[in-house]
Amino acid sequence: MLHILFVLSFLFCLSHAAVQDFCVANLKAPEGPAGYSCKKPKIVTVDDFVFSGLGMAGNTSNIIKAAVTPAFAAQFPGVNGLGLSMARLDLAPGGVVPMHTHPGASEVLVVVQGSITAGFISSANTVYLKTLKKGDIMVFPQGLLHFQINARGIPAVVFVSFSSSSPGLQILDFALFGNNLPSALVEKTTFLDDAQVKKLKAVLGGSG
Ligand SMILES: *[C@@H]1O[C@H](CO)[C@@H](O)[C@H](O)[C@H]1NC(C)=O
Repeated sequence: MLHILFVLSFLFCLSHAAVQDFCVANLKAPEGPAGYSCKKPKIVTVDDFVFSGLGMAGNTSNIIKAAVTPAFAAQFPGVNGLGLSMARLDLAPGGVVPMHTHPGASEVLVVVQGSITAGFISSANTVYLKTLKKGDIMVFPQGLLHFQINARGIPAVVFVSFSSSSPGLQILDFALFGNNLPSALVEKTTFLDDAQVKKLKAVLGGSG
């Protein structure tokens, strides 16, 4: 009898874990490797599952003439733990999302206005490059370096979806030239000369 009770309670625990419908992010607690901890279901509302921020163009008055508006777990708590998220990308004429990687997610984008040239580079250093028009979609495998550039003289609008609720973003130029890694080490590790490194640090906000 005790055995049966034990097995039943064990099964109940298992099924209880397996049937949790969602884990809306509790943004007041820190994010761990498995995402944010869950808001108590009692205080979850439909607004946790709705994000209205992608209807507006981002502000492209910046050095890259581009704006990324994320709807990741940090902005859109309902996606926490579901393995997906979205973003909007606005590219003004001449705009660029510089070479970057999302360590935690593959990406698929759809062009809804204008045209972009996009590409990624495999770990074998093969380049996969294409100019995309309205309605085209392109996928960027997880972790690989990629970029997007406005390909025409009109603003481009692109919606992006990721295979993680927190895809992460690391921009290569800022990693190399936007921090205080000493110029001598940047020069040694990039084969660039001192003048080139100092110039790029000035443009991208680095020091040292
Ligand atoms: C866009 O950003 C620029 C630079 O930060 C700022 O001067 C400008 O006011 C912003 N425009 C809008 C509409 O928010």
